[in-house]
Amino acid sequence: MTGKGLYVQLFSLHGLIRSRNLEMGRDADTGGQVKYVMELGHHLSQREDIERVDLFTRLIADKRVSSDYKVPVESINDKFRIVRIQCGGRKYMRKELLWPHLEEYVDRTIKFIKRHRAMPDVVHGHYPDAGHVAMQLAETFGLPFVYTGHSLGRAKLARLLEQGMSRDEMNKKFRIDQRIDAEDRIMARVDLVITSTRHEINEQYSLYAHKDVPTYKVIPPGIEIDTFYPYYHGMLEDTETTENARFAQASMLNELNRFFSKPEKPLILALSRPDKRKNISGLVKAYGEDLELQAMANLAIFAGLRKDIDAMADNEREVLTQMLLAMDKYDLYGKLAIPKKHDFEYEVPALYRIAAEKHGVFVNPALTEPFGLTLLEASATGLPIVATNDGGPNDIVHNCQNGILVDVSRTDQISAALRKIIADKDMWERYSKNGIMNVREHYTWKHHTREYTKAIAKVASANQRSNLATPKSVDAIGRRLIKLNRFLVTDIDNTLIGENNDRIDELVTLIKKNRDRIGFGIATGRTIDSAREILKQYDIPAPDIMICSVGSEIYYGRRRQAGKGWTSHIASRWNRDRIMALLADFDFLEYQEADTQRQFKVSYNMQPGKDRLATVHNRLLEHRCRYNLIYSHDRYLDILPYRASKGKAIRYLSYKWEIPLMNFLVCGDSGNDEEMLRGEPRAVVVANYSHELDALKGSRNVFFAKSCCAGGIIEGLQRYRFIDPSNA
Ligand code: GLC
Ligand code: MG
Repeated sequence: MTGKGLYVQLFSLHGLIRSRNLEMGRDADTGGQVKYVMELGHHLSQREDIERVDLFTRLIADKRVSSDYKVPVESINDKFRIVRIQCGGRKYMRKELLWPHLEEYVDRTIKFIKRHRAMPDVVHGHYPDAGHVAMQLAETFGLPFVYTGHSLGRAKLARLLEQGMSRDEMNKKFRIDQRIDAEDRIMARVDLVITSTRHEINEQYSLYAHKDVPTYKVIPPGIEIDTFYPYYHGMLEDTETTENARFAQASMLNELNRFFSKPEKPLILALSRPDKRKNISGLVKAYGEDLELQAMANLAIFAGLRKDIDAMADNEREVLTQMLLAMDKYDLYGKLAIPKKHDFEYEVPALYRIAAEKHGVFVNPALTEPFGLTLLEASATGLPIVATNDGGPNDIVHNCQNGILVDVSRTDQISAALRKIIADKDMWERYSKNGIMNVREHYTWKHHTREYTKAIAKVASANQRSNLATPKSVDAIGRRLIKLNRFLVTDIDNTLIGENNDRIDELVTLIKKNRDRIGFGIATGRTIDSAREILKQYDIPAPDIMICSVGSEIYYGRRRQAGKGWTSHIASRWNRDRIMALLADFDFLEYQEADTQRQFKVSYNMQPGKDRLATVHNRLLEHRCRYNLIYSHDRYLDILPYRASKGKAIRYLSYKWEIPLMNFLVCGDSGNDEEMLRGEPRAVVVANYSHELDALKGSRNVFFAKSCCAGGIIEGLQRYRFIDPSNA
C-alpha cells in the first residue's frame, strides 16, 4: 500500500461498459452488474483513502456497437479510468463464449501492468469470467483477491433443473458446467467475497464445497438518493430536474385518474417485471378477496411496458392475461390501475412519491427476492413497504425498520399487513420516517464505499503481513518478472549440465550474484519433474521460468505455477490421438517411455534413415495436421502443437512480460534448441554441440563458444556483455 491510499483494480469483462449513457438492458449482459461496477468505481474514486481505481473490461471494436467500446483507456476523472483489453478477437460476444479467451486476457493485462507500472494493491473480480482473470493476477503477483459473483451458477442450475431444462441444454445455452467449475476454483482461493445480502451467503455461496475459505462482507449497493428524494420535498435546486420531476408527477397522476373512481384514497403500489416469480397474481387475489382493504385503498400495478399482450413472450403474456382476468373476476374496476407504460428516469420516482403523499404502501409480492432494489427506492421517498420474508427484504427491514414482512404464499397475510399500515397513522408515520432516514444511513454509495474500503484495506494489509512473515510460501513471481529486463535461458542436458563441465560452480555463482538484474530460465526436453530433480542434484538455483517438454509447457517461480496462458495458446488445433493413430504403422518409430509423453508432446525414438523424416511429414500433412516436428541427437523425434517449441515459448515470454527478445541470452547444444537460437535473441552454442546445429554457423547473433557446457555459457555472457565486468 502506498502512502496515498489503495489502488484497486476492478474486473468486469462482459457486456458494454462506458462512462456515459450506459446501454442498460440492451442485452442480457449489459444490466445491473455493469451499472454496479461503474458506480462503485466512480464513488470509490471520490474517497481520499483510494489512490486510484481502474475498471478493466473487454475491448470491443465491432460495427454493431458504439465505437466508444474500442477506446483502450477512458479516463473518467483523475483517479478513475476504464481500461479495455482485447481477448478472443475484437467482435462483441455474449459472456458464455468468453471462456476460451480468458488466459489471453490475463496475459495482456500483465503486459499492461508492466508497461504502465500499474501494480494494484487489490484485485476484485465480478462474475466468474472476470473472477478467473483476477484470480490469475492475484496468484502471479501475490495480491489479495476479492470476488463478487453477482449470481451463482449452482443456484441457476438448481432453478433450471426445477424448470425441467436438461443439463445438455444448459451447457449449450449457458456453459453451466464451465461456469461452476470456474466458481469452484475461485471459491478455493478467494480472500474476500463481497455480497449485497446475507441471503446470498446462506442460500447461494453455501452451495460450494469451499464455502468456508473466504471471509464474507455484506455491503448492500447504494441507491441514488438525489433521484429518490422524499415525497415532501416540493422543490429541487436544479430547475431542469424539477420541471422533469413535476411533469412526471402530473402525468402519472393523470394516468392513475383514468382508472380510479376515488383517486384521493391511499394508494398501494406494486412495480415489477411481468414474471411469474414476481407473484402479481397473488397480490391481485389478496386485494380482490379483501373487501375492507378495497374500501380503504386503491391498488396500482405497474407490470413492465406493454403494447400488445398477444405479441409478448409466453411467460409475460400469461402473467398479464391472468392479471386482467382476475381484475374482471373480482370486479376491481375503479379501484385497480394497470397502466401500460412508465419511464424509469422520472416517472418511477414520481410514482413512489405520489403513493407516499397519499399515505399508501409499496408492496413487493415476489416469491423470492434476492435483493429488492425497488423496496429501497420506495423507502427513500418515504413509502412504507410490505414484502416477502425471504431473501433481501429481510436485510432491508432489519436495517430500516420500515415495513412488514409476510409469507407471500398466504394472500391473507399480504392484505392484513397492508390494512394494518394504512389504518394505523402512527405506524405509517414511523415507517415512512424510518425508511427515509435509514436508507440514507445504510444504502448510500457513501456508506457502501466506506464499508468497502474498510474491508479491502483489511485484506490488503493481511496479505502484506503474510508476505512479510513467510516470503517463501508466497511466491509472487510476477512481481519479480515485471522488474526484470534481461534473461539467461539455457537448455539443461549437454548445455548447463554434461561432461567436461569444470566451470559449472563458477556459472552458478555468477547467476546468484546477478540475480536481481538477470532472470534465470531453463528450456529443456525433460518433463518438469525430471528437470527439477536434476537441477536439485547439481545444486542449481531455482529458475524463474522453466520451459519444459521441448517447449510444450511453461512454469513460473519456486512453486512452479503452470503457465495457463501458454497452454491455452498452444492448444489450438492440436489432436494428439489423431497424430498417434496416423503414425502407428511406421515400424521405424518407437514410442518413447510413458513418462516422457505429455498432453502437448508425442515423442518417439527414431534412428536416422533415408526419407524417414519426409515420410512422417507427408503422412501428417496429407491428413491436414497442424504440428511442429523436432528431430534431435539422431534419435529423438518430438511432435508438438504447431504453436509450441522452446523458441516460440521464449517469444511468448518476451511478449507477455515485455522483455525485448534481444535481451534474452539463450544457450543450447542440439536440434531441439535450434529454433530458439535463431533470430533476435543472443545465442550461444556450446562447444560440445550436436551436428544438427552446424546449420547455424555464420548466423547473426549466434556465437559458437570454445568451451563445453557451463564454460561456453560463461563465454557467451561475457561476449554479449550480459554481466557487469565488476560482477564477473
Ligand atoms: C528429452 C525428453 C524426450 C525428448 C528429448 C528430445 O530427452 O525426455 O522425450 O524426445 O528430450 O527433445
Ligand atoms: Mg541438450
